[in-house]
Amino acid sequence: MSARKKIALGVLVSGSGTNLQAIIDASESGKIDARVAVVISDVPSARALERARKHDTAAVAIERKDFDSKKSFEERIVTTLKEHGCELVCLAGFMRIIGETLLGSYPDRIINIHPALLPSFPGLDAQKQAFDYGVKVSGATVHFVDDKTDHGPIICQKAVEVKEDDTAEALKERILEQEHRIYPAAIQLIAEGRVSIEGRRVIIK
Ligand code: GRF
Repeated sequence: MSARKKIALGVLVSGSGTNLQAIIDASESGKIDARVAVVISDVPSARALERARKHDTAAVAIERKDFDSKKSFEERIVTTLKEHGCELVCLAGFMRIIGETLLGSYPDRIINIHPALLPSFPGLDAQKQAFDYGVKVSGATVHFVDDKTDHGPIICQKAVEVKEDDTAEALKERILEQEHRIYPAAIQLIAEGRVSIEGRRVIIK
């Protein structure tokens, strides 16, 4: 890693936050030129918020029910991200569809991790969808977020083989291990300024 200035990340979460933890750990150990500036959760009880606080990272709960519209909900998220100087937004188990307010405020600067090899198995329970379908290989994908769910240009993917004696739960665990590697790696590529988007293709220099 170089002495490059660390880019400020806003991480959006709803649950356990193991991917958030992987990003925090990669940042603290100097593996990525990025730091988590704020963690925002739409679920106040999310374990991810505790993880953030443990690392003296700003942790903010913003609940959809406190706002009249998706627009005003997202405006509050954007204000919070901007207050903390966020340059890149990382969705890490954020269980909401991103709307035009957030997308318009961070064009091509929102990324997501999905536990399948997109475009296969978008949506919820992707690991189980893949297992139940009977695929021999699944995996994880980091991609830019656009206006369709689990759809934007793909930054990187990692394949995970399905074993003969696998279970959906065991597969999920092995995919999660790879998520924890490729999400920080994708962030580092962006931090190094090596990523550009050409149509559906992400070009890595
Ligand atoms: C991960 O499987 C991620 O791919 C998906 O949601 C899950 C979040 O897990 N988008 P965690 O909260 O990071 O542990």
